[in-house]
Amino acid sequence: MALDKPSTERMERIVSLCKRRGFIFQTSEIYGGLNGFWDYGPLGTELKRNLKELWWRRMVRERDDVVGLDGAILMNRQVWVASGHEATFSDPMVDCRNCKSRLRGDQLAKKNGQRQCPVCGGTDLTEPRAFNLMFKTYVGATEDESTVSYLRPETAQAIFVQFKNVLETSRQKLPFGIAQIGKAFRNEINPRNFTFRSREFEQMELEYFCRPEQGLELLEYWLKERLKFYEDVGIASDLLHVHKIPPEERAHYSKGTYDIEFAFPFGVQELEGIAYRSDFDLTQHQNASGKSLDYFDEDSKQRFVPHVVEPSAGVDRTVLALLCAGYDEEVVTDEKGKSETRTVLRFHPRVAPIKCGIFPLLKNNERLVRQARDIADSLRSEMMVFYDEAGAIGRRYRRQDEAGTPFCVTVDFDTIGENGPANKDTVTVRYRDSMKQDRIPIAELSDMLREKIR
Ligand code: GAP
Repeated sequence: MALDKPSTERMERIVSLCKRRGFIFQTSEIYGGLNGFWDYGPLGTELKRNLKELWWRRMVRERDDVVGLDGAILMNRQVWVASGHEATFSDPMVDCRNCKSRLRGDQLAKKNGQRQCPVCGGTDLTEPRAFNLMFKTYVGATEDESTVSYLRPETAQAIFVQFKNVLETSRQKLPFGIAQIGKAFRNEINPRNFTFRSREFEQMELEYFCRPEQGLELLEYWLKERLKFYEDVGIASDLLHVHKIPPEERAHYSKGTYDIEFAFPFGVQELEGIAYRSDFDLTQHQNASGKSLDYFDEDSKQRFVPHVVEPSAGVDRTVLALLCAGYDEEVVTDEKGKSETRTVLRFHPRVAPIKCGIFPLLKNNERLVRQARDIADSLRSEMMVFYDEAGAIGRRYRRQDEAGTPFCVTVDFDTIGENGPANKDTVTVRYRDSMKQDRIPIAELSDMLREKIR
């Protein structure tokens, strides 16, 4: 199916596969769900975890200029006052007087020059009014203005307010970064497109602090690094678009912003923003808290507030992009000439939830079963494997194709030496994408798989 045109049908098939195979479920489904909230099932959890681990590896562990932070979700309300979120983190909300739908005022199509309700088609709409997207809560037993807090709408602010503590304890020098992965919450007016716009989601954010004169160059550097990352997780570059935000559309403090966008079946939409935010955030918090958030440069003996470049990616959006990029249907013909449609998720082995399916040829042969189970157990500490003995081998392959498992290993009579010594202690490895098979010694299996999933 073509990826370039928005396709409702393609998206519906992906959503249906996600539910059928246990990637993503509607939250609280047995009670009718909750709009904008999702639960990840067994395969989705692995996929998401693999993505986050790879991001952490690339952005923190493999560099010596980035350290991690794991901040609290609820913070002092003053954080959100100083950052500007309490006053301005809002979307324009419009009500349809006809069907009572609540709508995003900036996403409405027009009919004969009039704004139109996408639900009922009516044009009797209220004027837009600002709706703050932060979820409000109260900390402690008293519910009044003095105990108000908000579920964080982005992870970035914890990094800014802990800048000095991290700087002093990690003894980093500019330029350096602080990275964080964590939940964020936005009371979106109109959650939509499956998990794309949710009310609870995860972000992977890096705040990379630098001298003012380094900002623009580092913006370009991080754009390249982040594009490399998407290739690394198996998203082909032709599915990605870089959108340079024009000055009039940028936040007032931003000196340059790129959006990395992905061709979802419902249209080309943002995956990640990379923004050069100048010294805005640290200055705001320094002024509001009265605590210095500056940096002393030992070489020049100068004190200044660092500038920052921020690559900010959504975990859930990237998971959705992986599902959309990987989803494929192809007609295959078996040796008897029978055709069928094979559904396959072509995940890169690095992010695939299950790395290897392991099958005994027959489930009622004790030696085959024991050997297959031994292989599965020997690999389990290093990677997610799945032992399956149910049904014909062809069916087992198809089930793993739908789960996106890149390799399947079959233990057959050759493996256990029943057909002579030539192929004893070897197994067949079947490759998901080509469906080709190789025979390899069991002793080489873990090295081969480790190499491919690295
Ligand atoms: N600190 C900067 C920041 O939060 P943003 O563009 O508002 O910037 C960054 O968010 C990323 O977070 C987005 O590119 C997107 O991937 C993800 N994101 C934002 N809102 C989201 C939502 N409602 N549902 C899912 N992901 C979201």
